[in-house]
Amino acid sequence: LSSSQFLSPHFKWSERQSQVLESLAQEFTLSTAQLETLTTEFVRQMHVGLTSTKSKDLAMIPTFVTGRPDGHERGSYLALDLGGTNLRVCLITLKGDRQLEAHQRAFKVSDHLQEADVTELMDFIAISIQEFISSEHISAKIVEHPSDSDTLELGFTFSFPVTQTAIDAGVLLRWTKGFHCPGAVGSDIVQLLQDALNRKKVNVHVAALVNDTVGTLLAHSYKHANTFIGAIFGTGTNGAYVESARNIKTMTTDADEMIINIEWGNFDKDKTVLPVTMHDNKLDRESINPGIHVFEKMISGMYLGEITRNVLLYLIDQRLLFEGTSSPTLNRHWGFETKFMSAIEQDNSSTLIPIAQILEQDLGIYLNTQVDREIVKFVCQLVGKRAARLSAMAVAAVVRQGLKAGTLAEHGYPLKVSANDEVQAKQNGSKVEAVGHGASTKDIIRVGIDGSVFEHYPHFEERMYEALDEILGSSAREVVALGIARDGSGVGAALAALIATKNSAGST
Ligand code: GLC
Repeated sequence: LSSSQFLSPHFKWSERQSQVLESLAQEFTLSTAQLETLTTEFVRQMHVGLTSTKSKDLAMIPTFVTGRPDGHERGSYLALDLGGTNLRVCLITLKGDRQLEAHQRAFKVSDHLQEADVTELMDFIAISIQEFISSEHISAKIVEHPSDSDTLELGFTFSFPVTQTAIDAGVLLRWTKGFHCPGAVGSDIVQLLQDALNRKKVNVHVAALVNDTVGTLLAHSYKHANTFIGAIFGTGTNGAYVESARNIKTMTTDADEMIINIEWGNFDKDKTVLPVTMHDNKLDRESINPGIHVFEKMISGMYLGEITRNVLLYLIDQRLLFEGTSSPTLNRHWGFETKFMSAIEQDNSSTLIPIAQILEQDLGIYLNTQVDREIVKFVCQLVGKRAARLSAMAVAAVVRQGLKAGTLAEHGYPLKVSANDEVQAKQNGSKVEAVGHGASTKDIIRVGIDGSVFEHYPHFEERMYEALDEILGSSAREVVALGIARDGSGVGAALAALIATKNSAGST
């Protein structure tokens, strides 16, 4: 794969600029062969995580969620979503027939709270829930759709790595994405929240704890049959999928299938196959969790801008960009946000004036030539495209695991793999080729995706499909449907609360 495919005919780069940019392009461009190597290694690391609790790469956490919604679920549940700078509290009314009504309110989690003692964080959450349910509008809704008991059941989407011991119990393994609250790692998150609710006399029962990827999978299943994966490409990145219980050697269960939280942000922790560059290493060293979630740091919204900043400074220091001059904002750690990359990649004008505006207004770089702007765009494309291709690789690996382990076929998904690894579909009990035109949409396995990078980063989805084609075969779109599951974690938390309360009702 030649990196010069990126070079547009307008570029009037000096020889030195061309040389350095060509070599950057080579470092950041993932060939089909590299994608293949990464996919194989990803599947291997999934296997390690499914068979040992000591896996250092993919945690492969059993979630104790053993069923998938089919769209007929009904009832009103509270849902809580904590995973970034916002806390969302929602009241979700599932109406059956894949319909629902959602009311929600977002509360800002201040920088202080992201590092405060965990009891302070939990008290803040309890008070936010209290405020939400006592607002007139919501209390009227609760009266309109009463629950079976006086206590409101709540599902908690908590988007951090948690080792679960039950659907309503789990211990935090480590903080990620900038959170750092003492007192949480090693503690049961459900208990911490329930204690805060009790302290604040809020009559709410925490029925289920789920990761955002699990919530997204559940929410997408409620809307669409054949959902196999839930994934997040936002501030962080991760995926969850349906695994056959017999392949999970780290626990025992009577169920046939269970959703697994992969925690794929930590794929290939030791960088045995991940093509990290010096710019990634710099970012990692300067982050609050060096050596952790290196894969996530190449993909997600919290980090893409910072990688780009590192590359831009590298070019500036060689006097190949902005005549060697930086600005205080660009010199600052995290000074270049991923949203600037989105805007820069969006600019298809011939003069690149919108890019000049970002450089001037947001970054304080007033001297920029058209060549400078082209170079900035080129760097964003390299970083953005690599992120999309790595994201696709993770999805492809999970699909491949489903095919390899027979999970897809066993649990009613339409796809089945033949001896020579060809993707086939099962229709009316007989195997027919589904790859090719004419495959009906029901023969597609679905991936529910949430997150700002997938939703807003230009070309992200199309770049993912391109890479999926390279890994899975020529027409990935006919096999795998990537679909947006906006705010899936709220609805997913409500569905998890429903599954948990139904299960405990059944077992008593
Ligand atoms: C981080 C968290 C993970 C979460 C992901 C997406 O990787 O560790 O639990 O699912 O971000 O929010």
